[in-house]
Amino acid sequence: MEAAPLPGHAPGILCRGVVKRYELGARSVEALRGVDLRIEGAGFHAIMGASGSGKSTLMHLVAGLDRPSAGEVHVGGTRIDTLDERALTLYRRRKVGIVFQHFNLLPSMSALDNVMLPALLDGAEHAVSEARAMELLGRLGVAERALHRPDALSGGEQQRVAIARALFFRPSVVLADEPTGNLDSAASARLFGLLSEIAEEQSVLLVMVTHEPAAAAHCRRVIVLRDGVVAGAFDTRSPGEEPLDAGALALRAQELARPTR
Ligand SMILES: Nc1ncnc2c1ncn2[C@@H]1O[C@H](COP(=O)(O)OP(=O)(O)OP(=O)(O)O)[C@@H](O)[C@H]1O
Ligand SMILES: [Mg+2]
Repeated sequence: MEAAPLPGHAPGILCRGVVKRYELGARSVEALRGVDLRIEGAGFHAIMGASGSGKSTLMHLVAGLDRPSAGEVHVGGTRIDTLDERALTLYRRRKVGIVFQHFNLLPSMSALDNVMLPALLDGAEHAVSEARAMELLGRLGVAERALHRPDALSGGEQQRVAIARALFFRPSVVLADEPTGNLDSAASARLFGLLSEIAEEQSVLLVMVTHEPAAAAHCRRVIVLRDGVVAGAFDTRSPGEEPLDAGALALRAQELARPTR
């Protein structure tokens, strides 16, 4: 798939020939083997694929938490894989929202302070930041929990706080890696409904890794990785057709994810 450069400030993600090799002593694992991917505009997109297909590795590279061994990663019109450490730190704090399972809330801080953390690190004005954080906690339905510390929140409430923090600087891109891995299916369905509404209303591009077809059914488009490359992608809503339900979506994704060798 040939991918032309994105215009200067276009929101979106562009990966070109992305390779990621992990060196383990004398052995080398190629987690990504030439990913070409372009995700444009706002809305909710899912990344699926078998365990070990490279989904988390790809999210780490787009989040600026790690660098590719080869290839290019562009986010919002900026090439991020060649940024220096300082620029990459600012990119992670301001330009991209990250909701990863291991990217936890700080246990000693309230929900409110956790959401304000990026602004506190940036030296932003306290009252303005607090108002923004409260607005987001309200939108995510956890305003009454603002003063609770994470250990006094349920798993779903913690994920809502993490999402509020990811949205703080109005990033054009939010990345989530199995954000509801610890939630029961009713709680995760509610959270996905809310995420898809927020993606539309705030025009953010939300890209989520998930194993759950019911979660992916909330997304506009599903991208499937297989063995370190993009195996294919499909829309869940086509004009004039019924949206794909979870069962039909699971079949399409499994077909693409199935090894061809
Ligand atoms: N830090 C690392 N060092 C060495 N190998 C790694 C490292 N991280 C990932 N890998 C390997 O790279 C491959 C892709 O891993 P990755 O975590 O991206 O898969 P995934 O699609 O997210 O899987 P899952 O669905 O199980 O989360 C796997 O074979 C994994 O063992
Ligand atoms: Mg993973």
